[in-house]
Amino acid sequence: MSTKNTQTVPLIEVQSVSKYFGSVIALQDISMTVQAGEVMCLLGDNGAGKSTLIKILSGVHRPSDGHYMVEGKEARFSSPRDALSAGIATVFQDLAMIPLMGISRNFFLGSEPTKGWGPFRRFDVQYANRVTREELARMGIQIRDTGQPVGTLSGGERQSVAIARAVYFGAKVLILDEPTAALGVKEAGIVLRYIAQARARGLGVIFITHNPHHAYPIGDHFTLLNRGRSLGTFAKSEISREELTSMMAGGEELETLSHELDEFARTDAVAGAALAEAAREFEVEAEQLEGSHDGQHQAQGGQPD
Ligand SMILES: Nc1ncnc2c1ncn2[C@@H]1O[C@H](COP(=O)(O)OP(=O)(O)O)[C@@H](O)[C@H]1O
Ligand SMILES: [Mg+2]
Repeated sequence: MSTKNTQTVPLIEVQSVSKYFGSVIALQDISMTVQAGEVMCLLGDNGAGKSTLIKILSGVHRPSDGHYMVEGKEARFSSPRDALSAGIATVFQDLAMIPLMGISRNFFLGSEPTKGWGPFRRFDVQYANRVTREELARMGIQIRDTGQPVGTLSGGERQSVAIARAVYFGAKVLILDEPTAALGVKEAGIVLRYIAQARARGLGVIFITHNPHHAYPIGDHFTLLNRGRSLGTFAKSEISREELTSMMAGGEELETLSHELDEFARTDAVAGAALAEAAREFEVEAEQLEGSHDGQHQAQGGQPD
């Protein structure tokens, strides 16, 4: 076989995956791969199927059809925990952090290091603080006080802690669901930098966004979803920022516009007919009214005041 086939096996590969919810087709015939050390951007407007796809990748849903392979082997996850132990970490928008707890406490949430044993077992604060500080520093984040409540961090910093945590706990694939959606330009830039850090450390990153301006600078590949279908996957060299933007915006806007125009035409036609009918009825009524009014006037006129 050619050398292409002996190239690195993708970390993640979906082949012709579909997902149905009853009669709703959330995804149809989606294929995509993610290699180690690359950022795959998953783009699409609301309802495109982005969340459904990452829920399949992160073990929340099973595909209705098609194949999902992790490092070349068919994945059979029955929960997000299964996916996590296979090295697939998903950072959801709500982040699953506790705002009032310190950064290092949050960093180790669910995997607390302890010291002592039996009734003397307790959270090893020093160890947690040291690791948290080191790991954040490795990603270029300097934290003065690791006991500082997470709630006092900015949105971008919180995302960064979540990313550093996934990297530390050995994730091979990092899935980020709209991490920049609620952020300003500067904050979004910070998160993009951490995504680049994760890539530099060899992770495969799936970055979900509906903003082509966030995706383009960081993405190596772009997969565009539209109403559950793929518009294709493009390498950065194959597509310009303008093309990406117009595929995103253009496709969506043109579709919306044509729907609106159709709707206008339809309602105009219906309204037009109804209006003509109403006008005709009105005319008839007005004539009748006029007739009876005249009669009333005469009757009234005939009565003495
Ligand atoms: N659990 C579900 N049951 C029924 N329909 C669903 C479910 N999850 C998603 N959908 C539908 O699938 C489509 C894609 O949704 P989603 O993956 O959330 O899109 P996105 O994340 O791109 O906005 C939508 O039409 C949505 O209503
Ligand atoms: Mg979504």
